Amino acid sequence: MNEKKERILGIVDSPRKGGNTETLVDEVLAGAKEAGAEISKIILNDLNIGYCQACNSCANNGKCRYDDDMTKINKEMSESTIFVFGTPVYYWGPTGIFKTFHDRLLATSRQGIIKGKKAILVVPLGGPASVARHTVGMLEDALNYQIADLVAQIVSPSTMEIEDLKQKKDILKQAYKVRYDAVKKTT
Ligand SMILES: Cc1cc2nc3c(=O)[nH]c(=O)nc-3n(C[C@H](O)[C@H](O)[C@H](O)COP(=O)(O)O)c2cc1C
Repeated sequence: MNEKKERILGIVDSPRKGGNTETLVDEVLAGAKEAGAEISKIILNDLNIGYCQACNSCANNGKCRYDDDMTKINKEMSESTIFVFGTPVYYWGPTGIFKTFHDRLLATSRQGIIKGKKAILVVPLGGPASVARHTVGMLEDALNYQIADLVAQIVSPSTMEIEDLKQKKDILKQAYKVRYDAVKKTT
């Protein structure tokens, strides 16, 4: 049987290079690579992604009217089977980068690029885990609308500084092995 290789795309929505979000996304990707998947990573803060202008032209043919870096992200997403969305909590929700990107996913989902795929969410935050509830809930509902599955979520509470995450060996390990658990659960 010619089984298609899994391709996992990490999407980092934090502006802090080498910060907690990127570290957790990297752990998920490292575990996936070890398990034989192809991996790829995008740092959204390095890219040019404009706000959705609500022109609704994507309702006609799924295509966005604007030709910015979403074009190359859509290509990456179409070639991937699992997405790792990573955002810290900023003011009880995800970052503005995450929200701007997710608004633009309306066109992406209308092109059928997300439907039937899996997603893993990683969320570091300074406060307790309950503060991540809006971020997790938002992604759950958005993926539900896009007919995709949130197969795993890794919330890292009390993780304000980079040093805090270094102490959290259990969460780093959970991120490293999440791909095994998530794929096992849904296949
Ligand atoms: C602008 C801003 C707002 C934040 N708001 C919250 C918040 O509402 N609740 C919380 O628990 N942590 C909050 N934090 C802390 C971050 O979630 C935390 O430091 C996280 O680990 C940062 O991830 P990063 O290293 O990927 O940037 C905030 C940090 C910043 C910079």
